[in-house]
Amino acid sequence: MKTYRFCTAFMLTLAAFLFLFPAAGHCCWEPAPQGVIEDNCTGGGTKILIVYDTEHGATAIVAQKIFQTLCGVNYGVDLVFVDNLNPETIANYDGIILGSPIYIGQFLPGMNSLLSKSHAEIAKIPSAFFIACTYIGNDTPERQEYAKENYVKKNLAAYSDIQLDDIGILGGEFRYDELFWWEYILMKIANFKEGDYIDNEKIEAWADGVGNKWH
Ligand SMILES: Cc1cc2nc3c(=O)[nH]c(=O)nc-3n(C[C@H](O)[C@H](O)[C@H](O)COP(=O)(O)O)c2cc1C
Repeated sequence: MKTYRFCTAFMLTLAAFLFLFPAAGHCCWEPAPQGVIEDNCTGGGTKILIVYDTEHGATAIVAQKIFQTLCGVNYGVDLVFVDNLNPETIANYDGIILGSPIYIGQFLPGMNSLLSKSHAEIAKIPSAFFIACTYIGNDTPERQEYAKENYVKKNLAAYSDIQLDDIGILGGEFRYDELFWWEYILMKIANFKEGDYIDNEKIEAWADGVGNKWH
């Protein structure tokens, strides 16, 4: 009887989960993303596009820090939220930095959609990819390697034409008070811990590294 109840509860939870997170850990009825930031700066001869996805704004903060770092070393940079990007403009840049948070091991759907529609254009220019996640809150070489393989390379496996110059495994932020209700329930069930792992020094160091490669 106990086993039966457990199986029923498990199947119901799984069904709810698959219904709410159909493709890539993102809900079909989801409200507009929070904390979108866009900006641009002019400078130098090298023009870089930073395009990112976000749901609760942490990746926007990380992307903005990358933007500020590159603007500070005199690049021309456009910082654009993925849904607002006109993919036809990709060819105007000398390099592209793509960024997504990780939701249940996946990129957000907006980033997946850009990759699927525009990977050929992205592949024509130098590219780098960063993720914002909480797994790297405890930043060890083993976790960096795990996240590179499972959160980035696996999710990009279908786009072998894109040859990344760099991969940034960066900390994000997780707070219960900003979650949508279905996320709240799921993450409580998973006993996910709150934390702010946005580390400006690490972001700057990664952005500098990418900038130096594209001089
Ligand atoms: C529903 C949900 C699933 C998540 N799944 C993962 C995960 O699989 N691995 C991870 O490291 N972080 C995970 N996180 C943490 C997010 O990656 C982190 O909070 C990120 O900074 C959110 O970025 P955003 O504010 O730009 O949307 C998850 C968060 C939520 C709300």
